[in-house]
Parts: sequence; structure tokens; C-alpha cells
Amino acid sequence: MKKLILGMILGSASLVVSCGPKSMAVTGPKYTSSEQLAQGKTIFENSCNRCHKLPDPAKHDDQGWLKTLSRMAPKAKLSEDQHQMVYDYLISVNKK
Ligand code: HEC
Repeated sequence: MKKLILGMILGSASLVVSCGPKSMAVTGPKYTSSEQLAQGKTIFENSCNRCHKLPDPAKHDDQGWLKTLSRMAPKAKLSEDQHQMVYDYLISVNKK
């Protein structure tokens, strides 16, 4: 009986998770306005040097930053929008 109840709790919990709002992943450039790029730069400079020194934006091409930033944005606890602005800033200065 205990197992059955536990199963019901777990079952409904996973249901809630799978029905939650889908986060819109960063899959490419979105912002081009200088205001948002400047904001992306500020977020980058403030959030990405906590665990290691600030990486060189030229380290990766656009595709490379897509991958690296999806790993690093959660570490830096960036929101989806902050992630997007940092990405757009990086690809605007990586010259690749
Ligand atoms: C909570 C700590 C933490 C924060 C915050 C963080 N990083 Fe990292 N980063 C790491 C660790 C640990 C590694 C090395 C292991 C790895 O590559 O996953 C790393 C490696 C990297 C690398 C080298 C690996 C590669 O793929 O080139 C880059 C570039 C990088 N981080 C960029 C960033 C950027 C940009 C941000 C800001 C959005 C950021 N990091 C924020 C922990 C962090």
C-alpha cells in the first residue's frame, strides 16, 4: 500500500513537470539593438568571471558559443533572456 501511494505521488509529480511551461532555449541570434548588446556585455562581465576569468569572446564561433553558453548560463544562473543577450553580445564581438 505504501508503495502504491508513493507511486501515485511520484507519478503526479512527473506529470506536473512535463506539463510545466516550456523554456524557450537560445538557438540563435535574436537581439541586434545596441541597448541589448550593451546589457549582454554587462551581464557577461558581471556573471562570467565568478568561477574562472572572463573568457575571450573570440574563443568560440557562433555555433561554439551556442553550445558553451548553454552549459554556462545555468551555472551563472542567467534567465533565458539574459542568456540570449549575452549570446548576442558574444557573437557581435567574436568576429567569426
Ligand atoms: C558556477 C561557476 C561558473 C560560472 C558562473 C561560469 N562558468 Fe564557465 N566554466 C565553469 C567551469 C567549472 C568550467 C570548466 C569545465 C567545463 O568546461 O565545463 C568552465 C569553462 C568555461 C569555458 C571553457 C570551456 C569552453 O567550452 O570553451 C568557457 C568559454 C566558459 N566557461 C564561459 C563562461 C561564460 C560565458 C559564463 C557566463 C555566462 C560562465 N562561463 C560562467 C564554471 C562557471
